[in-house]
Amino acid sequence: MHVLTTPPFAGTDRGQQLFQAHYGGVWRAFTLVFALAFTLGCGATPPAYFRLNMVEATKQHLTTQQEEQVSTVLLAMFGTPDEPATLPEMGLDAAKLKLAAGPVRSDIVGRKNGLYREHCAHCHGITGDGLGPTSAFLNPYPRDYRPGVFKFKSTERADKPTHADLLRILHNGIAGTSMPSFALLSAAKIDALAEYVKYLSMRGETELSLMRAFFELDDDAAGKLPQTREFLVTETLAVAAAKWQGASAAQIAVPPMPADIELVDSIAKGRALFYGEKANCVKCHGVTGLGDGQANDYDDWNKAIVEADKEVAGGERRAQEAQTSGMSPDELKEHREQIAWLEKFTRVLDGDALKPRTIPPRNLRQGVYRGGRRPLDLYYRIHAGINGAPMPAGKGTIPPEDIWHIVNYIRSLPYEFDGELGADRPLVARDRF
Ligand code: HEC
Ligand code: HEC
Repeated sequence: MHVLTTPPFAGTDRGQQLFQAHYGGVWRAFTLVFALAFTLGCGATPPAYFRLNMVEATKQHLTTQQEEQVSTVLLAMFGTPDEPATLPEMGLDAAKLKLAAGPVRSDIVGRKNGLYREHCAHCHGITGDGLGPTSAFLNPYPRDYRPGVFKFKSTERADKPTHADLLRILHNGIAGTSMPSFALLSAAKIDALAEYVKYLSMRGETELSLMRAFFELDDDAAGKLPQTREFLVTETLAVAAAKWQGASAAQIAVPPMPADIELVDSIAKGRALFYGEKANCVKCHGVTGLGDGQANDYDDWNKAIVEADKEVAGGERRAQEAQTSGMSPDELKEHREQIAWLEKFTRVLDGDALKPRTIPPRNLRQGVYRGGRRPLDLYYRIHAGINGAPMPAGKGTIPPEDIWHIVNYIRSLPYEFDGELGADRPLVARDRF
C-alpha cells in the first residue's frame, strides 16, 4: 500500500505554483507582521491584575491612600492573578490554584494552566467580580464571588457551599442560565477550578472587611488600618476562611421521604401548603405557579446597585437644593467634597457595575431548576431558601414531612391538568397556562 508521507504535487513545479498561490500571500503577511513587531516592539500585554472593589471603596468614602493600603494588604496575602499566594489560614491547596490561575498556556508535556482565564473569566471576570466582557449581555448576570454568597448548595442559608456543591455546579452548569456545564473537563481540572472560586471569594470577602474596617478606626489611627498580623489575618482573613472550612458541618440533614407516602395524596397536601398562609409560596410564584406573583424584587448583588443609584440621586438632589450663599467656609468645603464624591460615585457605577436587573420568582411550570432537579435539590431550596435572593427559608416554619409534600407538588406542576380537553389544548401545563 502506498503511504502518503508528502503532500501531493510536493517538489513538482505544479506543487510550487500551488504553494505560491495558496500560501505566498500568507508568508508575505507574516514577514510584514514580524518586521513591524521588530521595529515597533511587540506591545506585550501587561500582566493581569485584580481590580479593586471600587463600588465599595467609594461607598465607604475611602481616600486614595486608603484604597492603596487595601491593595497592598491584599497583594501580600493573595498575590496576583498570575502568581496566587496562600497563607495557611486559608486552608487552600496551592497546587490546585496554580493549575487554575495564570494566563492560558501549556507546559512542555502539554499540561495546561490558566483554566480559570480560559473557561470562566470572560463571564466572571479575572477578579471574580462578575464583570467579565460578556457579563452585560447575560440575564441573570454571572455571579460576583466577592461577597462570598452562593445560591445553590446543600448547606443552611447563610453558610458557604461545600466543595462538593461547587464541583456539582461546575459539572452540571446552571440550567436555564448561561452558566455552562464543564462536564467535559477532567475531575482534576474541575477540582482546581472549584478551589480557585473559593480563593477569589475569600479574597473578595477579605477586601470587603478591610474596606469596612476604616469606618471603625479611632482618631489615633489617622485613617490607617493596624498593620498587625492579629488584625489582618486573625480578625479578618481567618474569619472568612473559617466559614469556608465549616461548610461541610453546615450541611442540611435531610430526613428521607416517608416510605409510605401516597403520591396523589402527597401532591394534594403540597398544593394546600403552597397556597396556604404558612408556606405562602403563592405570594411570589403566583396563583398560576408561573412566577407571576411579586416579581419586582432584586437579589442582593443588584439591590446593592439599586441602593447606590438611589444614594447618588438623593445626594444630587440635596446638593442642587443647597443654598451655598449662606454657607460658612467649612460648610462650603464639605459641600464641595460631597459634590466631588457624587461625581466619583456616578463614574464608578458607570464603569464598575452592571445595570440592575430584577430577579423574577421561578416559573414552576417549566420544570427547569437552576439548583438541580433531583427531589433532594428541591428539598434544599425549600428548606434553606435561596441565599442572596428573595426566596425565603422554610426551615422552622415548614416541617420536613411537609417540605416533601411541597416537593412532590412542585414536581407535578409542569404536568398539572386543569380538567379541560380539546384539540387546541396543549397537553403539557407549561404550554397551557
Ligand atoms: C457564559 C457565561 C459563564 C461562564 C463561561 C461561566 N459562568 Fe459561572 N455563572 C454564570 C452565570 C450567569 C451564573 C449565575 C446563575 C444564577 O445566578 O442563577 C453563574 C454562577 C456561577 C457560580 C455560582 C453558583 C451558586 O451556587 O451561586 C459559580 C461557583 C460559577 N458560576 C463558577 C464558574 C466557573 C468556575 C466557571 C469556569 C469554569 C464559570 N462559572 C463559567 C455564567 C458563566
Ligand atoms: C418572597 C418571594 C418568594 C416566596 C415567598 C417563595 N419564593 Fe420561590 N423563588 C423566589 C425567587 C425570587 C426565586 C428565584 C431566585 C433565584 O434564582 O435567585 C425562587 C425560586 C424558586 C424555585 C427554583 C429553584 C431552582 O433551583 O431553580 C423553587 C422550586 C421555588 N422557588 C419554590 C418555592 C416554594 C415551594 C415556596 C413556598 C414554600 C417559595 N418558592 C416561596 C421567590 C419566592
